[in-house]
Amino acid sequence: MKKFLDLLSEEVGKAFEKAGYGAELGKVTVSNRPDLCEYQCNGSLAGAKAYHKAPVAIANEVVEILKENPAFSKAEAVPPGFLNLNVSGEFIADYVNEMAADAKFGLDMPKEPKHYMIDYGGPNVAKPLHVGHLRSAVIGESVKRIIRYMGHDCIGDIHLGDWGLQMGLVIAELKVRKPELVYFDDSFNGEYPAEAPFTVSDLEEIYPFASAKSKEDAAFKEEAMLCTFKLQNGVKGYRALWNKICEVSVADLKKNYNKLNVEFDLWKGESDVHDVIPGMVDYMKKEGYAYLSDGALVVDVKEDTDTKEIPPCMILKSDGASLYNTTDLATLMVRTKDYNPDEIIYLTDKRQDLYFEQVFRAARKTKIVKEDTTLVHIGFGTVNGKDGKPFKTRDGGVMRLEYLIRDINDTMYEKIRTGRDMNEEEAREVAEIVALSAIKYGDLSNQASKDYIFDIDRFTSFEGDTGPYLLYTVVRIKSILAKYMAEGGIATGLKLNADPNESEKALMMKITGFNTMMETALNELAPHKVCAYLYDLANAFNSFYHETKILTEEDETRKKGYIALLMLTKNIAEGCMECLGFSAPERM
Ligand code: ARG
Repeated sequence: MKKFLDLLSEEVGKAFEKAGYGAELGKVTVSNRPDLCEYQCNGSLAGAKAYHKAPVAIANEVVEILKENPAFSKAEAVPPGFLNLNVSGEFIADYVNEMAADAKFGLDMPKEPKHYMIDYGGPNVAKPLHVGHLRSAVIGESVKRIIRYMGHDCIGDIHLGDWGLQMGLVIAELKVRKPELVYFDDSFNGEYPAEAPFTVSDLEEIYPFASAKSKEDAAFKEEAMLCTFKLQNGVKGYRALWNKICEVSVADLKKNYNKLNVEFDLWKGESDVHDVIPGMVDYMKKEGYAYLSDGALVVDVKEDTDTKEIPPCMILKSDGASLYNTTDLATLMVRTKDYNPDEIIYLTDKRQDLYFEQVFRAARKTKIVKEDTTLVHIGFGTVNGKDGKPFKTRDGGVMRLEYLIRDINDTMYEKIRTGRDMNEEEAREVAEIVALSAIKYGDLSNQASKDYIFDIDRFTSFEGDTGPYLLYTVVRIKSILAKYMAEGGIATGLKLNADPNESEKALMMKITGFNTMMETALNELAPHKVCAYLYDLANAFNSFYHETKILTEEDETRKKGYIALLMLTKNIAEGCMECLGFSAPERM
C-alpha cells in the first residue's frame, strides 16, 4: 500500500504542477509544529530560486489549488513560504480503513523474500548465562522477528561456544575429581552410560573453579590443553564425555532461553565446523590469500582507505591451533554452502566490532562468501547498574540471567498481587508475562549500540516509557472490546469515523505511520524504532481514551467507528509486540 505521506505528497505535487512548478516540490512531512498544523510542505522555499519568485507567492498559488482538494481540510501559506496542511477526516479515515482491511496493515510484502541468517545468543557450553547474554538474545530475537514480519526468511543460529579450551578445562577437572569414570579408560570398548556423571549445577561450579585453577597451576593448564587436544582429535572417551557436557548444558540453556521467549532454529556450535577447517586453510594457502608471518598463518585485511590500523586476520597460531576467527570463517563457508543466505547478521558486544570487521574482510577477500552477501555486525552496549558501571549482584559478582529474571518476576508479582482480585496462580502467570515485557522493552527501547541502565523499578513501572505501560494499554483496549461484545456489539464490517474528533484523528495519524516505521526498522535492523512507535501509539490511544466516551456514545455509527479504531490500534500494537518478542495478557 502506498505510504500516507507519499499520497499527500502526490496531491500537493499535482497542485505545484498545476500552478506551473515541478511536482517534486510537493514533498509533505509530518508537521514539526503540531500546534499549527498536521502536515507541512516546504517546497515553495526550495523552488523560489529556480523560479525567481518569492516563496510566499508560490505558496499562495498552490494553496488556491489545494483549497479545492477534498484530501485537505486546511491549506495555508505562511511566511516566508511554508505550506501548513491539515488532512480531511474522510481522506485519513479512508486510508486507515484500507489498512484495517489488510492482513499486514498495508505493509508491502516483498515479491522475492530475502534469505537472512542471524547468529545470536552465542552462549558458551558449561557456563551459566549471565546478564551479558541478555542483549544478544533479546535484540537478536527481535531483529529476527522484524525480518520475518516483513515477509522475509530468517534462520536463527545460536552458535554455541562448545569447542575451545573451556571444554578441556571442564574435562581436566572432571578427571581430577572422578578419575574412575569410564570416559578416561582408554581400553574401554563398551557403550558409554546414558546418564551424565554430573548435573548442570556441577558444571556451573566446575568451570569457574577449573578456570581459576589453570591460572595458578601450570601443570593443570597443560593437562587442560592436552584434554582439549584429545577432544578435538577425536579420542573416543573424551568425545563421549564432551557430548554429555553439551547435552546437560544445552538442556539448561533451552530452559533459560525459553523463559525469555527466545527460540533458535539451529543449535549449531563452533565444534560443527571443526572438520571443515583443514580444507579451508589449504584453500586459503593455495589461492595465496594466507601467508606465514612469525610462524602464524594470516590474511591481510587492511585497505587503503582505512583511517585506523586494521591488523591481519589470524587463521592459525604458530603452534597450528585454530582460533575464534578460524571457526567464524569456517562457519561462513558452511552457511554459504548449506543455506546460501543473502545477508548474515551477528549480534555481540560492541567490543567485538574490530574482530568482525577483520572476519568480514577476510571472508570477502578469500571469497568464502558470495560477492553480494551482506555481512552485518550489530555491536551492542553494556547493561549497567544504577551506578553506571556494568551490572553486578549486590556483592559485586556476575549476575546470572536466571536470577535477574527471577528478581524482576518477583517485583512484578508483588505489584500485581496488591490491589487486584487475582489468585496466586493467575498473579504468578500474569507477572511472568508482564515481567518479560519489562525486561525486553527496557533493553530494546535503547539504540543497541548504547549502554543502558538496568533499573528494575523503572522497568516494572506501569507508567512512562515501559513494557508494562504498553501491555496495560493493550489490556485496556481488550477489556473495552470485550465489554462491547458482551453488550451485543458487532465487530465485523465496521468503518472509521470520517469526522473524527481531535484525539481520534491524532490516533489515526499515528496509525498511518506504521508501514514507514516498519520499513525503517527493517532497513536499519533497529527494534528501538518499533519501541518508539509503539510508545507513541499507546500515548495517542490513551489521550483518545481519556477524552472520549466510547461505550456510552449514543450515536451507534459513531460508537462503531470508535470500536473499529480500537480494534486496529490493538492489532497494530500486538503486531509491534510480536516483533519485539513479548505479548499482552488478557488482564493485569
Ligand atoms: N561465544 C562467543 C562469546 O562468548 C560469542 C559468539 C558470537 N558469534 C560468533 N559467530 N562469533 O563471545
